[in-house]
Amino acid sequence: MSEILLDVKNLKKYFKTNAGMLHAVDDVSFSIEKGHTMGVVGESGCGKSTLGRTLLQLYEPTSGEIDFKGKNIANLSKKEFHQVRPKLQMIFQDPYSSLNGRMTVQQLIAEPLIVNKVCNNKKEIQERVSEIMDTVGLSERLAMAYPHELDGGRRQRIGVARALVLNPEFVVCDEPVSALMFPFRHRF
Ligand SMILES: Nc1ncnc2c1ncn2[C@@H]1O[C@H](COP(=O)(O)OP(=O)(O)O)[C@@H](O)[C@H]1O
Ligand SMILES: [Mg+2]
Repeated sequence: MSEILLDVKNLKKYFKTNAGMLHAVDDVSFSIEKGHTMGVVGESGCGKSTLGRTLLQLYEPTSGEIDFKGKNIANLSKKEFHQVRPKLQMIFQDPYSSLNGRMTVQQLIAEPLIVNKVCNNKKEIQERVSEIMDTVGLSERLAMAYPHELDGGRRQRIGVARALVLNPEFVVCDEPVSALMFPFRHRF
């Protein structure tokens, strides 16, 4: 039997602006089954990013319900939401602005593991970081590099690695592959 992972009901996110209320997300309802992918398509400014951010509580919803595994997470306290947050991750559209430039690739990918205390020791952290670097296609030799030393595609792979390293159950991808470059030269 299919399992509903995320069930969104009548979600609204309005922004107060000088010109009045801007209805960025207006009465959106959908559900996503476990293991499924949903694409959101629309012209620039239609509210795609706002929807993703509101689902993860980066914006407070104006109204509506966001049920994650049967529990409404739209009105949880900060402390309660903190407990489910590792299960919900986001790959940002602009990876560079979300990365601390003073941290190495290895430190950036290890950070979510340390903050959420999911590994028992340094060795476990290192093994998990190596594993996820391999998964997202970041060469081991880049472990000690800083974001400014890398091209946009590799920076984006750090963002993907940081989102996936905690084994999330739901990932919001905000135009996650626009910066990725694949080695097509072998084909042409
Ligand atoms: N923090 C904010 N404050 C006020 N208005 C915003 C904010 N974020 C987005 N908007 C507005 O909400 C609308 C939807 O934006 P956005 O979700 O970024 O669209 P998309 O990702 O589909 O291009 C736009 O009109 C945008 O200007
Ligand atoms: Mg957007």
